[in-house]
Amino acid sequence: MAKIAVIFGSTTGNTRAAAERIAEALGGVDLIPADRKGLSLLSGYDVLLLGSSTWGFGELQDDWEVLAGELGALDLRGKRVSFFGTGDQEGYGDTYADALGILYDALADTGAEFIGSWPTEGYTFTESRAVRGGSFIGLALDEDNQADLTADRIDRWVSLIRESTG
Ligand SMILES: Cc1cc2nc3c(=O)[nH]c(=O)nc-3n(C[C@H](O)[C@H](O)[C@H](O)COP(=O)(O)O)c2cc1C
Repeated sequence: MAKIAVIFGSTTGNTRAAAERIAEALGGVDLIPADRKGLSLLSGYDVLLLGSSTWGFGELQDDWEVLAGELGALDLRGKRVSFFGTGDQEGYGDTYADALGILYDALADTGAEFIGSWPTEGYTFTESRAVRGGSFIGLALDEDNQADLTADRIDRWVSLIRESTG
């Protein structure tokens, strides 16, 4: 069975709660805070699910911001990687969940195989760096405006991740 890590950065707890729910739904995965120690552990996993909220105007959450310069140097060959995170599509409709896209771009040359893309239907925003080829590159959540949809979105995304990881 694939060894899965859920690694997250969260300022007010929303992405942390999502990470916990994802870990619970997957079962048997490790939940790791986004810090330097967490980064050093990633080589021991087959699947990495990276979670960040978006702050400022389209910036990484602070814990990830500290690590941003180191992400491109990771060797993720043979690993499957996806992203999740919370944002506010009404308050920040031009930068909704941008952090997912920033992480994706940072890992572009690491050899990772990206999985877990997610449809944009049901969201209302103008622009997002997390959208590539018409889909989110991972699971976008919105605790500010669509908290009632979070549990179902997580369950469906976790099923997709399971299908992609065996
Ligand atoms: C000052 C501030 C800036 C924010 N900027 C963005 C943004 O650019 N894009 C976005 O999607 N959400 C933005 N948000 C919304 C947060 O990402 C959202 O509330 C999120 O759920 C926080 O998650 P966390 O508790 O895991 O950090 C912002 C919120 C605040 C208070």
